Amino acid sequence: MTIRVLTGIKPTGTVHLGNYVGAIRPAISASLQPGIESYYFLADYHALSGSADADRVHRSTLEIAATWLALGLDPVKVHFYRQSDLPEVTELTWLLSCVTAKGLLNRAHAYKAAVDANVAQALDADHGIGMGLYLYPVLMAADILLFNAHRVPVGRDQIQHIEIARDLAQRFNHLQGGDYFTLPEAAVDANSAVLPGLDGRKMSKSYDNVIPLWGTSKSLRDSIYSVVTNSLLPGEPKNPDESTLFALYQAFASADESTDLRQAYADGIAWGEAKRIVHQRIDSELCAARERYHALIGRPQEIESTLQAGAERLRPKARALLDGLREAVGLRSLARLAAPVVVSDKAPKKAKLPRFVQFKGVDGLLNFKFFAANGELLLTGLGYADAKSSASAMQVLQVATDLQLKDAQVLIDAQPVGTLAATPAQLDQAYSQLLDALASLRAVAG
Ligand code: TRP
Repeated sequence: MTIRVLTGIKPTGTVHLGNYVGAIRPAISASLQPGIESYYFLADYHALSGSADADRVHRSTLEIAATWLALGLDPVKVHFYRQSDLPEVTELTWLLSCVTAKGLLNRAHAYKAAVDANVAQALDADHGIGMGLYLYPVLMAADILLFNAHRVPVGRDQIQHIEIARDLAQRFNHLQGGDYFTLPEAAVDANSAVLPGLDGRKMSKSYDNVIPLWGTSKSLRDSIYSVVTNSLLPGEPKNPDESTLFALYQAFASADESTDLRQAYADGIAWGEAKRIVHQRIDSELCAARERYHALIGRPQEIESTLQAGAERLRPKARALLDGLREAVGLRSLARLAAPVVVSDKAPKKAKLPRFVQFKGVDGLLNFKFFAANGELLLTGLGYADAKSSASAMQVLQVATDLQLKDAQVLIDAQPVGTLAATPAQLDQAYSQLLDALASLRAVAG
C-alpha cells in the first residue's frame, strides 16, 4: 500500500536556517523515499488567518515555492501545489464545519491562547479574534482529509491540529455511516534538529535571532560571524557542547567532520577560525541551491505554472472525493428524485363539455351556436327575436330525443332548430357528432 504523506507550508515571512534543518531538508529527503506519495502545498489560505499583509503573502508564496524547488523537491514525483488553487479545499472546509462541535474549537490551543491573552488584559474574551483563527483547525483538517493522507509530518505545535482532523474524520464517518475519510496521524520527527539562533536560543522569527537561508555567501558569512561566542582566547580549550557555533556546524557536518571540530575546540581553536570553518561548511551545502533559488525567483511565471500544474493534476481526485461527500450529505441531483405524488386540496379540473354560446347576429337577431367539447362548431341556431326564444330553443335541443336531419337542417317535431356546420359530404358525420355532444350534456345533467 502506498502511504500518503502530506504537509502544508504557511507562506509567511522569510525562510531561515532553522526551517531548513528542522523541516525542509528532512521533508525533501523523505519525499525521495520509495513507496510513499508526497503532498506538499503552500497553505496560503492559512496565511490569511492572522493580520496578513497582501503583498507579503504574495511575495512569500513565491519565495517559499522557489525554496522548496531549489532544494530539490521534484514537482513531477511529488504533488506540489498551492492550497488556494483547489476550490475543493474550501468546499470541504464547510462540510467539515457542519460536523464540528463548537466546543472542540474552543479548546484549540491557538484560539485559547488568544482568549487567555485577552482575559489577562481584562478585554472581552473574543476581542480581536476572527473566524479565520477560530476555524484554522477545520481548514487544516480539510487539507489533510481531502487527499486522505495517512501521515502528516508537523512540528509539535501542530499535533493538536492533526488530532482535530482525526476527530472530524471520525465524526463524519460515523454520522454518514461510511469510510469516507482515512484517519491521519501526526509524524513528529523526534530527532529533527532544533537549531540554535544567533543568541543561542532556538532559532525563531519571534526571537529575532535567525540566519536567513538565502542571500549571498557574504551575507551568510556575516550572520555566522555575529553568532555569540564567549571571550576565550585562541589557544584556550573550548567546550563544543556549550557552543552555538558547534551546534550549527553539527547540523550540516558529517560525524567525522564534527569529531574533527570537536578536537579543534579542545585544542583551543580561535573563534574566528571556527566561524570560518562553520561558514564554509554551511555555504558548501547551500551554494548550488542558492544559485537555483535566485534563478527561480527571477522566473516567477515558471513557478506559477508549476504550482498550477500541480493543482490541476490533483483536481480530479479532489473533485471525486467531494462528489461522494455531497452525495452523502444530501447535495444531490434533483433529477434522481422520483416525481412526487401531488395531493391537491382542489377538486380535479372538470372535463370540458360541449357548450352553447349565445350572440347577437348582424341582422340584430339573437342566436346561438353549439360547440363540441373540442371547440368545434357543430350547429348554428336559426335566429330569434329575443333572448327568451333563443334560450328556449337551446333548452328544447338539450332535452329532445327525436331529432331528425333534413339536408343540413336539424328538425325537432318537424320544426327546424338549426343548421349543421358541415359540407354536404360530411353531414352524416357532423350529425352523429351533434347527437353525441347532446348525449354527453344530458349525461352530465343527469
Ligand atoms: N498549520 C501549519 C503550520 O502552521 C501549516 C499547515 C496548513 C499544515 N495546513 C496543513 C500542515 C496541513 C500540515 C497539514 O505549520
